[in-house]
Amino acid sequence: MSSYNLLMLPGDGIGPEVVNEVERVIDWFNKNTDSKFEIEKDLVGGSAYDAHGAAISDAAMDLAHKSDAVIFGAVGGPKWDNVPFEVRPEAGLLRLRKELDLFANLRPAICYKALADASSLKRELVEGLDILILRELTGGVYFGEPKEITDLPDGQQKAVDTQIYTTSEVQRIARVAFELAKTRKGKVTSTEKRNVMISGVFWNKVVSEVHKNEYPDMELEHILADACAMQLVRKPKQFDLIVADNLFGDILSDEAAMLTGSMGMLPSASLGAVNETTGKRNAMYEPVHGSAPDIAGQGISNPIAEIASFAMALRYSFNLTEEAKLIEDSISAALDTGIRTPDIMQDGMKKVGTHQITDVIISEMNSRS
Ligand code: IPM
Ligand code: MG
Repeated sequence: MSSYNLLMLPGDGIGPEVVNEVERVIDWFNKNTDSKFEIEKDLVGGSAYDAHGAAISDAAMDLAHKSDAVIFGAVGGPKWDNVPFEVRPEAGLLRLRKELDLFANLRPAICYKALADASSLKRELVEGLDILILRELTGGVYFGEPKEITDLPDGQQKAVDTQIYTTSEVQRIARVAFELAKTRKGKVTSTEKRNVMISGVFWNKVVSEVHKNEYPDMELEHILADACAMQLVRKPKQFDLIVADNLFGDILSDEAAMLTGSMGMLPSASLGAVNETTGKRNAMYEPVHGSAPDIAGQGISNPIAEIASFAMALRYSFNLTEEAKLIEDSISAALDTGIRTPDIMQDGMKKVGTHQITDVIISEMNSRS
């Protein structure tokens, strides 16, 4: 028997609802398998700000460091629109990423067969789509200093964000890209804006060097980030794995998410480096969607991205590949029965809520094990 510690940070908006559903899936594993998951919970985002005046407390950060994996919901909402920038809900998420050094963010965009018509693109363009956006998550313009608004002598103000990457930051994400490519189609598409940004020239150079020196057998192509955005909607299946910096990765992964039918479908894994002595790595799993305050509390949010994020935890933190697949197959089978949450609703399908779609996913898990 193996046991694991999970820290759950449900957050705001629909975060707590979708995290509740993942807890039911985790209970299922506790009851039916030899893997036991112990769950602790804490606050993040606006709810943490309301309780502690910070977007995440030091105590919750401690728990995150000690846990085997963090399961994250979503943060933010109009209630906190006017709180100071340093303590806005998103600051909690960014602190977790930075302090746990979760530099590699895996955002798979898989179009479930049953949902090919829910995409805004034609069925033939997205059916069978299976691409991975690998986003650098702890560097770039998200964290670069200076990041400030200052006063100018003439009475104006000036705002600065800073895009910074070091050699080792680009090397380590490039290595993750090539390692993942080995398990996929052996091809990496690296994207930047080398025609405008010197940091883009640098990114391109470092990725090319890692390729030439360490992974000469893999295929590497470079594409400008704007062209990549365009090709993603023109012919998405030309890509297999796209590696991007923090900002371009943020944008391209939202675009990729929509190809699959709904933002409510896309899970993600944020991984740190493997510790050489313990063999463990820091990790956090979160849906790509946000807190959707407009539908919070109505029981209609789509829990699939959250549940699929837990499947990624099974795969990447606990090496439970079969179990991960069990969840993913059960999600797919649940969709095949024709039930849909409102975000993926289509003609002829049956509209259900957050809890009911999970009921069906769990009963599919039962019938498959
Ligand atoms: C994401 C989100 C976050 C980001 C926000 C909530 C800070 O959009 O995870 O993609 O920009 O990274
Ligand atoms: Mg985003």
